[in-house]
Amino acid sequence: MTTRYEVRDGVAILTLDNAPVNGLSFAVRAAYADGLAKANADASVKAIIVTGAGKAFSGGADIKEFGSPKALAEPNLGSIIRATEMSDKPVIAAIHTTCMGGGLELALGCHYRVASPGANIALPEVKLGLIPGAGGTVRLPRVVGVEAAVNIIVSGEPVKSEFIASFPGQKLFDKIIEGDLLAGAMAFAAEKADVRPLPLVRDLRTGHPEADAFFGFARNTAKAMAKNFPAPAKCVDAVENATKMKFDDAIAAERDIFVSLMMTPESKSLRHLFFAERAASKIPDVPEDTKTRDVKKVGIIGAGTMGGGIGMNFLNAGIPVIILEMKQEAIDKGFGVIRKNYEAQVAKKKLKQEKLDERMGMLTSTLNYADLKDCDLIIEAVFEEIGVKQKVMEALDAVAKPGAILATNTSTLDVNKIASFTKRPQDVVGMHFFSPANVMKLLEVVRGEKTSKDVLATVMAISKKIKKTAVISGVCDGFIGNRMIEQYGRQGGFLLDEGCTPQQVDRAVEKFGFAMGPFRMGDLAGNDIGWAIRKRRYGEKPNMRYSKTADLLCEQGRFGQKVGKGWYDYVPGKRDAIPNADVEAMIAKHRESLGIKPRKISDDEIVHRLVLSLVNEAAHILEEGIANKASDIDIVYIYGYGFPPHRGGPMNYADQLGLFNVVQMMNKFAKNPLDDASFWKPAPLLAKLVAEGKSFN
Ligand SMILES: NC(=O)c1ccc[n+]([C@@H]2O[C@H](COP(=O)([O-])OP(=O)(O)OC[C@H]3O[C@@H](n4cnc5c(N)ncnc54)[C@H](O)[C@@H]3O)[C@@H](O)[C@H]2O)c1
Repeated sequence: MTTRYEVRDGVAILTLDNAPVNGLSFAVRAAYADGLAKANADASVKAIIVTGAGKAFSGGADIKEFGSPKALAEPNLGSIIRATEMSDKPVIAAIHTTCMGGGLELALGCHYRVASPGANIALPEVKLGLIPGAGGTVRLPRVVGVEAAVNIIVSGEPVKSEFIASFPGQKLFDKIIEGDLLAGAMAFAAEKADVRPLPLVRDLRTGHPEADAFFGFARNTAKAMAKNFPAPAKCVDAVENATKMKFDDAIAAERDIFVSLMMTPESKSLRHLFFAERAASKIPDVPEDTKTRDVKKVGIIGAGTMGGGIGMNFLNAGIPVIILEMKQEAIDKGFGVIRKNYEAQVAKKKLKQEKLDERMGMLTSTLNYADLKDCDLIIEAVFEEIGVKQKVMEALDAVAKPGAILATNTSTLDVNKIASFTKRPQDVVGMHFFSPANVMKLLEVVRGEKTSKDVLATVMAISKKIKKTAVISGVCDGFIGNRMIEQYGRQGGFLLDEGCTPQQVDRAVEKFGFAMGPFRMGDLAGNDIGWAIRKRRYGEKPNMRYSKTADLLCEQGRFGQKVGKGWYDYVPGKRDAIPNADVEAMIAKHRESLGIKPRKISDDEIVHRLVLSLVNEAAHILEEGIANKASDIDIVYIYGYGFPPHRGGPMNYADQLGLFNVVQMMNKFAKNPLDDASFWKPAPLLAKLVAEGKSFN
């Protein structure tokens, strides 16, 4: 972790060297400042090149130092940028592969910038709820113009170097160098060694001919698109400052905005999720260097709703897939759905026709288990019945090659039992995809009692390849996500019994930021699925209290969107939820039969009964070791259940509320005679954390 220094042919080369992306850690910054001073003091040095080792120029701040005093320790990023500007000898940034955040801000402090084509250029701070804090918003508009700068900063998305170089009049890159970047930079340095005065981005002017109109429009667009996040509109403010204030005043204003955003719950939540996502792939007792198994071909059993979507994930990643079904018609139907999905992407220009052909070309089918013998991973997605799963697992055990991973996509069945149907339970694992499986980012990896560590490591690695965020769950009914949603569903039912309409509950929850309220979600997932689960679960627990409204709804055949009616009505081809008077009458009648007088329930009570029902169940899940860490639960809810990202997941939200307050609210809910007081008893872990003044994360 340093900045290497060498002198070649009168040019000092400073190489940022901090794998994997040359994050600008304290050590790197300090060595950079030393190198800069040394080069300036050495009479034989005529010019200075700054570049990055390995696969990046620099990805920006070192995430390992995030939030620690080291991140701001002198020389901080602002100081080394200033020192670079003040160098008496020309400093040339030689940019390749990745140049983002603080890395780009450092490059903007250099006198010149040369780049390889294909380098990813970005200021991604907005993705953490921030704005660039080391001059990015003030310098970038000076070299690419106001409009491009606003686009780059508000989106946070990378743009290719050669594309920026094609902007008329751009001054970000002095040269795009094909071939050997360092050799090209050396030649460029020789050209510029004696040129004075040294050009500085701060000396350039920036502005917009229709400034007020442009910034007003940009701010409104950013606000509309960002909904719950303040940072995008603040990015626009900062660029506007760059056009209206003196350079150093705009830098100070940028700093103020940056510092105030750091304190917002939205940015704290996004930073929490950033780390949570990285932490999710780490399993406490599985070393990171665990050798993984090769996965070159995937078999899938069942071409239904899930099987097809699961298959698409692997095809998209270039991994051949073979799907086994019971009948040719089922294959034809399943393949038809896959093709239609790809064709829709082609129509939207998100996929090229050649890619569609290539992917469909990697997809084969069979009615015969023997054809799965060369698969490295086989995922079953057949009917949710233990007898069917048993037949399938036994058949797989008979034909799969030694070392093949046998995965089940079951939502509710016991993975240990499913593993026991084979003679190789160590190779069996749950891979619980979410519907639609080709779209939803979440994958719950269910660790059976006997699942081997290299199977877990392999599944975690393959999940990255298919662009899923995977979280480990232990075996229990519903795993992490669905076990929690059961309590949420129960609360939703009690709210109806006590006086709410489905639309009132959904509206409150959606206002809180959920993608969808519980009743719209039920209609989307299919109310019959929950009905079947309740019959099974509550058949075993006859004392379980829950509202019967959802059962009554199903008795009327109102299964949801797929039949055009559920809690709401639906017009074919549309997803708008239209309230239905009969449903409201059914709820009112049921309420009456229970002798309940409806009361007006506030949005705040609705939201907190629902969200804290998730939190208390999650505390049990954590305590039982079903989830390894609280942040994994946040990931499950953000990526699998539409929990609002600006709240950082249920556990992060509870932490932000303060666990003491959480328990106070739960105690209050427990006093409601129509609720389930036993459920609201704080989980032992929650009570313990409150007693110790601690939080989940
Ligand atoms: N639908 C969801 O939202 C969802 C989400 C996560 C997990 N799951 C789980 O995924 C699994 C499949 O669910 P689905 O919704 O895709 O069901 P589905 O009914 O749409 O598809 C099941 C497919 O499996 C085939 N099949 C059944 N028995 C078979 C056998 N013995 N051999 C070969 N093929 C067989 C059927 O022909 C059918 O095409 C279930 O375990 C379910 O719990 C479903």
